[in-house]
Amino acid sequence: MSANPAGAKVVVVGAGAREHALAWKLSASPQVSQVIVAPGNDGLPSKFQRWELGSYDLFAKRCVQEAIDLVVIGPDNPLADGIVDILEAHGVLAFGPTRKAAQIESSKIFAKEVMRAAGIPTGLYKVCETAEQAQREVEEGDWPNGLVVKAEGLAFGKGVQVCETRKQALAAVSELALISPRLLIEERLSGEEVSWMAFCEGAACALLEPARDYKRLREGDEGPNTGGMGALSPVPGIAPHWAARIRREVFEPVLTELKKRGCEFKGVLYAGLMVDCTQERFWVLEFNARFGDPEAQVLLPRIQGDFYEWCRAVALGNLAKLPCDVPFSKEAAVTVVAAAPGYPQAPKGGILIHGFEGVAHFFSAAIRKDGDRYLTNGGRIFSTLGMGRDLGEARKQAYAQFSQVHFEGMQIRSDIAQKESLLFSRTPRIAIFASGRGSNFTAILNSIRKGELAAQICVVFSDQREAPVIELARSEGIPVSCVPFVEFGRARRREFEERVIEEVTSFKPDFIVFAGFMRLVSRFFIDAFRSSKGYSRIVNIHPSLLPSFPGSKAYAQAFEHGVKVTGVSVHLVEEQMDEGPILAQEAFDISDLKTLDEVEKRGLAIEHRLYPEILSWVLQEQFHLENLAPGGRTRVLQD
Ligand code: GRF
Repeated sequence: MSANPAGAKVVVVGAGAREHALAWKLSASPQVSQVIVAPGNDGLPSKFQRWELGSYDLFAKRCVQEAIDLVVIGPDNPLADGIVDILEAHGVLAFGPTRKAAQIESSKIFAKEVMRAAGIPTGLYKVCETAEQAQREVEEGDWPNGLVVKAEGLAFGKGVQVCETRKQALAAVSELALISPRLLIEERLSGEEVSWMAFCEGAACALLEPARDYKRLREGDEGPNTGGMGALSPVPGIAPHWAARIRREVFEPVLTELKKRGCEFKGVLYAGLMVDCTQERFWVLEFNARFGDPEAQVLLPRIQGDFYEWCRAVALGNLAKLPCDVPFSKEAAVTVVAAAPGYPQAPKGGILIHGFEGVAHFFSAAIRKDGDRYLTNGGRIFSTLGMGRDLGEARKQAYAQFSQVHFEGMQIRSDIAQKESLLFSRTPRIAIFASGRGSNFTAILNSIRKGELAAQICVVFSDQREAPVIELARSEGIPVSCVPFVEFGRARRREFEERVIEEVTSFKPDFIVFAGFMRLVSRFFIDAFRSSKGYSRIVNIHPSLLPSFPGSKAYAQAFEHGVKVTGVSVHLVEEQMDEGPILAQEAFDISDLKTLDEVEKRGLAIEHRLYPEILSWVLQEQFHLENLAPGGRTRVLQD
């Protein structure tokens, strides 16, 4: 219960877009009557009162005088400086860890020790007390996959450099030694970076959904590291089963270990993960003791229910009484950060921001008001927010707002939440298997060229030397490979398959796509393309509503049987003819059609639309496929 009859009074500490998002979310709570931001920035809506943030002691006294119900800390620095300890000493309720607990972020070496003691997977590392020792480690150490140099202490996201060569690493050591002589040399890991946050308090934790941020300044993850140029949530490819694993293998052990060390954590703990979905492995790269910026801008809008209630429960030590997971809306969110020219090295201030009042969904950061003009006043100026049914829609909305708002020299990344940048750091490779004319191959190729399907055809394979699809692929400049089945015959099917596997794997496909491949394959063949989780990495399209009319004459059989409705099925390939878990089906009416030709024409038009669409889904969601039971995830589409 609040001491304030009108409702709770909350202060958010910090000045950036994350704090704007926190203030906005807290003000949506029916329990909250007033949100104050200290110090905030001039771009904030006037409904938020602003306080200066001078000495923490004076700040704490003001909170007492004004009967503040809760203080929520946004950034890392005040936490590392012990703002929570001071607030609590004055009897002010605070959301955030104490100085001791915040060491999990403010000391990379402490974090590594905690992880090691708690048995949390993390990269191999060496602590170097001096720049010379670090140089020696770079020159003499065994770091075959490249290394990462980290400066001890907080560095506004700029204390880490990922290096591919020794030369780069030596330069990083010299540069980072200016921040701190204590350096950490760490093995470079590969996979997908995921930011996973949880409300934590003592041993209890409630996980949020994961998010991803884009740390580099420029498109394609080029350019210097920044505080973050954009973010998205949910993260495609992170299947739901990961949440339980991350709770069990990261949050629970780290909280127990912190407690053991007298550093009990309270607030939001952020685990920066590297996830290798194909191998089902992960490592913790770092911990942060607060919400990420820009991740908060995509996570907070997706949280359902009363956010203030969660923060208060954490601060009061009541988290264990709330559910284990924070409820999230199914909507996707994307945020795009606009940075000043010269950011991150030397951002230019004082540039006029045009159209600022017109922006619908944005979070303001480094903005100064001069009369009625809004000016840039730091590095990351503001971030726009887009929400939608999927990331594509959210992305569109987030970018659409830049038609309203602009300033000279504005830096934004154009590839935030772009399909290609989502799941694979590289475009997935598919091998197309075909025996005939190849109209489905053409449909897939067109869809790739239109930018709808993020895939690369690494080879077109055929079992028939004369198949028209071979010429078609050649004329499009796509590598072809052919192992004629006639040269082997049924008796030597195993040898045939061995040759095909050898040929095709040399092109390193992620998935095999049958498109009119008229050959049954054995379990031996399928096993060569099976994922480590056991599902087949071969997809087929069949021109009927399976299990009706398997085999090579499906349209003809449907027509001859006089069925009124037939359809198209896309499925994962298993041993029996046209069998395996169905991924999608689309039915169509043929009761009005007079000839087989017409049936085929109608069917093929559907195939050519459906197959690329489902392939796109398969390639993005492939790591969910382990949950497939035959028929279990069927998507039935009706025209
Ligand atoms: C299509 O009808 C497909 O469903 C089936 O074989 C036919 C191949 O046609 N598996 P095309 O070679 O793609 O034109």
